[in-house]
This record gives sequence, structure tokens and C-alpha cells, in this order.
Amino acid sequence: MRTQVGIVGAGPAGLLLGRLLERQGIDAVVIERRPADYVLSRIRAGVLEQGSTELIDAAGIGGRMRREGLVHEGIEIAFDDRRTRIDFHGLIGRTVVVYGQTELTRDLMLARTESGAVTVYEAEDVALHGIDGDLPRITYAKDGMAHEVVCDFIAGCDGSHGVSHAMIPAELRVTHERVYPFGWLGVLVDRPPVADELIYAGHERGFALCSMRSATRSRYYVQVGAAERVEDWSDDRFFDELCRRLDPATAARLQTGPSIEKSIARLRSFVAEPMRHGRLLLAGDAAHIVPPTGAKGLNLAIADVAILAEALVEHYRSGSDRGLDGYSERALARVWNAERFSWWMTSLLHRFPGTDSFGRRLQRAEFDHLARSRRAAEVLAENYTGLAL
Ligand code: APR
Ligand code: PHB
Repeated sequence: MRTQVGIVGAGPAGLLLGRLLERQGIDAVVIERRPADYVLSRIRAGVLEQGSTELIDAAGIGGRMRREGLVHEGIEIAFDDRRTRIDFHGLIGRTVVVYGQTELTRDLMLARTESGAVTVYEAEDVALHGIDGDLPRITYAKDGMAHEVVCDFIAGCDGSHGVSHAMIPAELRVTHERVYPFGWLGVLVDRPPVADELIYAGHERGFALCSMRSATRSRYYVQVGAAERVEDWSDDRFFDELCRRLDPATAARLQTGPSIEKSIARLRSFVAEPMRHGRLLLAGDAAHIVPPTGAKGLNLAIADVAILAEALVEHYRSGSDRGLDGYSERALARVWNAERFSWWMTSLLHRFPGTDSFGRRLQRAEFDHLARSRRAAEVLAENYTGLAL
């Protein structure tokens, strides 16, 4: 097979890049190692920055997101017995949209099917070749047959467990990592959300988050130790722990029910630089991971492919590689800002094992500042709703 851009991975990064290129008449093939159903069964993030929603509209796939997504004008942050609302709209005139990553992925898959764009699912032994040359190749096996896609460029959108990021020569690759000594235990439940807005709670017993997917489906999280196993958490135990970390009025309002998904995600910050080598360009989780606290993972993936699509369009339209040459630096500037914000919000709200009373008091002082200072709240609002793309 011959294509212009070979895309590895059918997560939001790969599928959205394919869509943006297709709209500009650039041919792309997506190679994914899992079945489509499996990709859609993974419960992931759910908050879209304003810039992300605008890009999704511009890509012509925003219809369902605008109909079903929930516009949020702010978030609640609780700390011990205090609570403050960060009014994004009132402070800086921006909002976010709560719309599950899975739904966005579904919309993108449907659009590809409708336009006849090629996606290969269940590709085994995916490997990249010749990224230093002019015609890189992706090879894979499917149904016992060997296949090859010859491309002008390869976009590595295959997440943190993919094969792309390892293709950047070790001597040129610099990685930065912080592993947090805890995880988030998440539960999805078909009950109306406990509040209209997300509640981020920094409690003595650990962090908790009340989020949602729709008016009838909620997503809740509690911070758990790094060694915890999901089998040890019955629904009752989960909801008991969640309620202990919420203020009594909220806890009393919470509607519990049987979980329809339950999983633990360990928290990690990670960046691999650069995001380009030769004809390979990395985007999304393949290049960087943020802890979920600032809801930045999905939005960073979207921002990467927006910058990348623009650079590829410039290459094909005008023959200029200025955008491609600047891609890594431009994307990383945004990545590092999101890394900083996610680290900050994680540090503010979690219980760190071994932290003394000094650490706890610092967190409280930080929270008090946020609650008192319009400027501090504006900084949070600006970061949470996202810089313009
Ligand atoms: N070959 C082909 N596809 C692969 C390979 C491989 N060797 N390895 C992984 N993949 C696929 C995965 O099965 C997955 O569908 O690449 C896709 C990567 O998708 P995501 O993990 O969703 O990553 P990305 O598209 O960058 O989106 C980032 O996902 O993890 C969340 O919080 C993160 O919301 C953010 C978003
Ligand atoms: C979610 O709804 O899954 C979610 C929301 C906000 C976050 C993280 C996760 O910061």
C-alpha cells in the first residue's frame, strides 16, 4: 500500500490527525493493533478544553459533541472542610465541554467509515522502517499475511505502550519522568452526577474526584496506594471511601449503584524529547504522559495533532518544511506547560505518603490563596480551559 502519511494507532491522536489531513486532501492510512470494539471499550478522560472543541468543530465532527456534551463554566475545589468554585466563565470568559474520549473516538471512527478512509484494525507485529530516509515504511501482519505501507511520513500515535517512541535513537532521546506513589481508582456508574460541576477534593484521607459523562452517568475516583488492587475494592467499599472524602451534604446526595467499569490508573508525568526524528513524528501519549488531575492528556493529544496537521499541510501545499522542523519545539512548549499544571494540581490535592504536617499546611495555604485571590483563580482557569491552539 502507498499513502502520504502512515498513522500508527487509532486513539484520539491518530484518528483526529487522519481526519484533519483528509479534510485537506492528504491521504493517510491508520494502523491499529487492537479491534475497534476494544479501543472503544477503554474508559478514558472526559474534559475537552475550549480550543479542543473548536478544533473538533473545524474538523467537521463536532455535531454530537455539541448536542450531547455538557458545557461547564467552572469547577469546585474542596479542601478539608472548605470549598471554592473556580468560575472559568466569570473569570476569563472560557468554558470546557464534558464529553467522553470514547465518544469522540466513536465519532472519528464513524467519520472514517463514512468517507471510506482506510483503517486497519488488529494489525500484529507493527514495525517502522527507514525513518531516516525519504520513504519510511510500516510493516504488519494480518490474518497470517505480511503487509507493508510505504509513506512520506509516519505519525507515531500509538500511546505509551506503542512501538514508535522507541524508534528515536537512544543517543538523541532525552526522557523526563516523575512517578507518583499512588493511583486513582475509578468507577463508572449509571446514576446522575452528584453535582452539576466537577468536584476536586483534597482530603486528609486522600484525593477524590466527582466527574460525569452525561446527566445520567457519573465517573468517580478516589486516590489509592500504588500497590492497591482493584479486586480488593467492592462497590460498597469504594462509595464508602468516596463519601468520607466529600463534605457531608454532598456525601448525603450521592447516588450509588453497581459499577459498570472499575479500574486503577497509576499517576505518572513523562516527557520524551524530541517529538520528531527524520520522517517520524510522535503525537499524544506516545510522547508524553500527564497525571489525570488537570484533565490535560486528551487535550494535549489534540493540540499535538493540530500543530502536526498544519505542518504537514504546509509541506504538501508549499513545499516548505518550516512547520515540520519546528513541530517538536512548538508542541513541547505546550506539553511542558500542561506538565507543570498537572503536576501542580496533583501536588495541591493529593496525600503524599510520608508528608509531614508542614507539607499539609503548605497545601492548605495554597488552597486558601486560590480561594481568596482572583488572580490565582484566573491562573487556574486559564490553564484548565487551555491556552488557545
Ligand atoms: N501498533 C499499532 N497500534 C498500537 C500499537 C502498535 N504497536 N501500540 C499501541 N497501539 C494503539 C493502541 O491500541 C491505542 O488504540 O495506539 C492507540 C493509542 O491510543 P491512546 O492510548 O488513546 O493515545 P492517544 O491517541 O495519544 O490519546 C491520548 O489517551 O491515555 C489517554 O489520557 C490519555 O486522553 C489521553 C489520550
Ligand atoms: C473524568 O471524567 O474521567 C475526569 C475528569 C477530570 C479529570 C480527570 C478525569 O481531571
